[in-house]
Amino acid sequence: MSTHRLFLFAALLVVVALVVVACGPSATPTPAAAPTKGPAPASTVAATPGAAAPGKVGSPESGKAVFEANCNGCHPGGNKGNGPDIRGKSADVVKNKVRNGGGGMPQFSQSQISDQQLTDVAAYVNSLK
Ligand code: HEC
Repeated sequence: MSTHRLFLFAALLVVVALVVVACGPSATPTPAAAPTKGPAPASTVAATPGAAAPGKVGSPESGKAVFEANCNGCHPGGNKGNGPDIRGKSADVVKNKVRNGGGGMPQFSQSQISDQQLTDVAAYVNSLK
């Protein structure tokens, strides 16, 4: 046997040894631990704190400020100005006019005057004499 063949044989052994090691059990990657199923995140549906319990009845006191900020320029003190005299108008008439506008009266959206503020301002207008 020539040294050349011996060398080949040795090389073959090395290769076989490497393959065996590479494919051994230690080479099998262990799957990462499955994510533990923790409790589902508690739903944060916090009940909106009863924002002063929006009452159906408006507050003329709160409405006064809303009126002065948005209406007084045309209905000074509820009297005739650029707009007509609206003192004592019913809440329905006021709410309707404020939301719909028309005839020179501007329209106010909920982002400008909230429903609660509208209820309040209507009560205020209705209380004017
Ligand atoms: C830019 C001026 C202007 C502003 C601001 C204004 N109004 Fe008027 N308003 C008018 C005019 C003009 C009319 C008459 C419209 C018509 O003849 O249809 C009117 C009409 C009304 C009427 C109807 C009266 C009726 O007999 O039907 C009500 C109620 C009223 N306004 C309430 C309000 C309130 C409440 C605000 C504030 C949130 C307000 N207005 C802000 C000009 C204004």
